[in-house]
Amino acid sequence: MTGENTLVVGSGLVGSGIARRIATAGGAQSPQASVTLASRRRPATPPEAYGAGWEALDATDAAACARLLARVRPARVVLVHGPSDVTWCEDHPERARAAHVAVAENFAALAPDARIVMISTDNVFDGHAAHNTESTPVSPANAYGRAKLLAEEALLAGAARAVALRVSLVYGHEPADAGKWLNFFAACAHRLLRGERVEAPDDHWTTPVVLADVAEVTAALLDADGPLPPVLHLGGPDRVTRAEWAAEIARILGAPAELVVPVPRARTRYASRPVNACLAGEILPTLPATRSIAVRGVREGARLVAPAFTGTP
Ligand SMILES: NC(=O)c1ccc[n+]([C@@H]2O[C@H](COP(=O)([O-])OP(=O)(O)OC[C@H]3O[C@@H](n4cnc5c(N)ncnc54)[C@H](OP(=O)(O)O)[C@@H]3O)[C@@H](O)[C@H]2O)c1
Repeated sequence: MTGENTLVVGSGLVGSGIARRIATAGGAQSPQASVTLASRRRPATPPEAYGAGWEALDATDAAACARLLARVRPARVVLVHGPSDVTWCEDHPERARAAHVAVAENFAALAPDARIVMISTDNVFDGHAAHNTESTPVSPANAYGRAKLLAEEALLAGAARAVALRVSLVYGHEPADAGKWLNFFAACAHRLLRGERVEAPDDHWTTPVVLADVAEVTAALLDADGPLPPVLHLGGPDRVTRAEWAAEIARILGAPAELVVPVPRARTRYASRPVNACLAGEILPTLPATRSIAVRGVREGARLVAPAFTGTP
């Protein structure tokens, strides 16, 4: 083990994508450095297949975190655990708050000198502004946003080199039988390929960002030598409604356009989300560590992701 080991807490869509990027691109800086995913249950895709390891961890348990940190000895930590389902958090606000704050407090106390990147969210904003930059005043839209904001504050108060990386809606491949609520792209793609209708709000705007770009930016921040600003925003360059985005997904998959049915947000599970779930990153394009990363728009991102759904190269 070296001091360059990376621990990724949470092995779902985003955590697995980040671990895969670091393990396969040599981003852990030294051949001896390890990448370890941690969650309560083993992820369906074995991390060993792409050169990472996995450890069982309930990250709300401080003693379990201390034992794992002593074994892995990471200099770099990514906090990307759940609960991530906005609707579940709205129904269980106290459990959502307790879980997110406990994990942030544990890592701030137990790894105060590590480079920690916590993946946060646009839901810390109320959605009144078309774009939310790092200087937009926070005002959480819902229970999930309140929990994530408190976790940001707890982490940044205790860990001097920590960064809260607020990310817009992330998309990438997930199998239809993943046993969880799928990301929007995956949910639409599976339905459209089965010839089923997709109802999508035409009054709910997002700046989607493809998983590969989230992983690239996170790896670059973990690698950065000097000080970093405590809060950074990562959104895609295109501001689209979910209905426009679903239409783009149908187009790239060759599915009939009429399968996408625009509906009002209030009639959907997105009713508690900010109207503008949009992030504009003003700082990332100026940082030496990240300024060369070109974040993809929805058309380019869809081209990247679609083959995993259609099975074509
Ligand atoms: N996906 C997005 O669009 C998006 C956008 C912005 C921010 N984020 C943030 O990124 C995080 C992950 O999102 P995701 O889409 O990857 O979610 P996900 O696919 O639901 O994965 C969440 C992961 O966290 C693990 N987990 C939950 N509670 C845990 C605990 N107490 N200890 C250890 N692991 C735990 C889960 O596994 P177990 O249940 O087996 O433990 C799972 O591996 C969320 O916190 C979310 O706020 C996501």
